[in-house]
Amino acid sequence: MNVATVILAAGLGTRMKSDKAKVLHTVAGRPMIEYPVAMARALGSTRVVCVLGHQADKVREAVERRFGAGSIEVAIQSEQRGTGHAVLMAEPQLGDHDGLVLILYGDTPLLTRAVLERLVAGASSSTVTMMTARLPDPRGYGRVVRDSDGKFVKIVEEKDATDAEQRLDEINAGIYCGPAKFFFHTLASIGTNNAQGEIYLTDVMERAARQLGVVTVEAAADEVMGCNDRVDVAKADRIVRLRLAEELMRAGVAVRDPERLYVEPGVEVGRDTVLGPNVELRGKVKIGSGCVVEQGAVITDCTVGDRVHIKPYCVMSESTVANGAQIGPWCHIRPGSVIEDDVHLGNFVETKKTRMGRGAKANHLTYLGDADVGEKVNVGCGTITCNYDGYVKSRTVIEDGAFIGSDTQLVAPVTVGRGAVTAAGTTVYRDVPAGALALTRPELVFVEGWAERKREKMQARKGTNGVSGGAAGNVKHAPNFPKPKTKKKKQAPVKAKTKASVKGKPARRRG
Ligand code: UD1
Ligand code: CA
Repeated sequence: MNVATVILAAGLGTRMKSDKAKVLHTVAGRPMIEYPVAMARALGSTRVVCVLGHQADKVREAVERRFGAGSIEVAIQSEQRGTGHAVLMAEPQLGDHDGLVLILYGDTPLLTRAVLERLVAGASSSTVTMMTARLPDPRGYGRVVRDSDGKFVKIVEEKDATDAEQRLDEINAGIYCGPAKFFFHTLASIGTNNAQGEIYLTDVMERAARQLGVVTVEAAADEVMGCNDRVDVAKADRIVRLRLAEELMRAGVAVRDPERLYVEPGVEVGRDTVLGPNVELRGKVKIGSGCVVEQGAVITDCTVGDRVHIKPYCVMSESTVANGAQIGPWCHIRPGSVIEDDVHLGNFVETKKTRMGRGAKANHLTYLGDADVGEKVNVGCGTITCNYDGYVKSRTVIEDGAFIGSDTQLVAPVTVGRGAVTAAGTTVYRDVPAGALALTRPELVFVEGWAERKREKMQARKGTNGVSGGAAGNVKHAPNFPKPKTKKKKQAPVKAKTKASVKGKPARRRG
């Protein structure tokens, strides 16, 4: 039979103590509302109607962001008058739906596809199925009441239950499937004679037991949890993440500490990849095979090739990394970075909107923003692309095989030609021709004997004013010692032997 799904998600979720609607709170990085919508779609539901109330627009937006515009129909329940009343709100859409209706909750993200398939398969034009579970602690849920033959009779809400009923450990998960027309028809005549003065959807089941047949489908205890407060959300989050970690492990991924893997639904990881503790894979992440992702890497919306080594504490977003690259530790790969094969990026390297060509290296303390770095380029320690002048962002191009000396500043827009070299400490503010050496360097001077004289002076001073309580004469570690007041004639500095005339001399390879 044709199945339409109604998802109840109008409540604010008072127990969340939040300004945000309950179903927008996230479990494994996804708003809770996504879980039942994904299930409905996976089960082949022809139509999905979400009953929304609190923050309906935001909830709809969240769903459409994930599943596309028009992926759901919305029924508004402006006043929350109970679960039965909420289903009635979908009558304009589904009142003449001839098939089955599957009723899901927005706050029950742990249901598995297998158990829902059983629920739908059991329903027919003459049978309503409902999901139950046996919980060691059934508090907060409606209880399933059966007769002496074990036949389903009704559901009682905790607030309406007798002491004996409260001791029943079989609970109603709140998930049902049955003929749509029966639900709408029955709900129209159900009153609000209960502790909460609401139209209870559960009352439909008592009628179904009398007029049709009711079949219960038992789910595992960890599937039926409704998330009513933040403690529930954290529990659900952990369960979903553990399930995802297990799925990855079964597909050949080594997860070093499944409890501490933060992974979202839809993340793909190849076989023989190792994921360390506290790794976070968020959004659309695809990691190839044979990679190592070490402790604390936070990867959002990235594609990573095979045999990539991501060392501890890297943060990477909206970028691609090709095969064999080595990243980190402590790398920040910001949006728009394209890291090609076998690139090495070392500690404290930041890239943004930057291509690193095949085999290029930037191993230490470097910022590469809005840059195009060619193949086999070596970027020395402390290199900075000065890409922003306070008004506009400009690009830096470093052509294949160039060597960027340590502490080079590349004032964009600028190009360093193929195979060119920049000397350590150079400020490159004009294009460097291919094969050239670029060098800017202030003169180096020596003041002979200065350090020795300074030491003696400071020692003498300390001996007289007794600043330090320690042994007189030892001032090696007194950096904040006050300046001497006595003026002495300064000795003129002498020029260092090597002046900045290095024509034709190759730069020393460092960095
Ligand atoms: C409901 C069931 C209870 C079951 C439990 C399972 C009823 C009367 N009780 O109780 O038997 O054990 O679920 O989790 O059905 N909602 C609306 N509009 C409303 C009321 C609720 O959209 O007017 C939505 C909520 O946003 C939520 C879902 O329906 O997503 C369940 O509502 P909630 O108030 O949490 O029901 P429970 O009291 O948990
Ligand atoms: Ca609930």
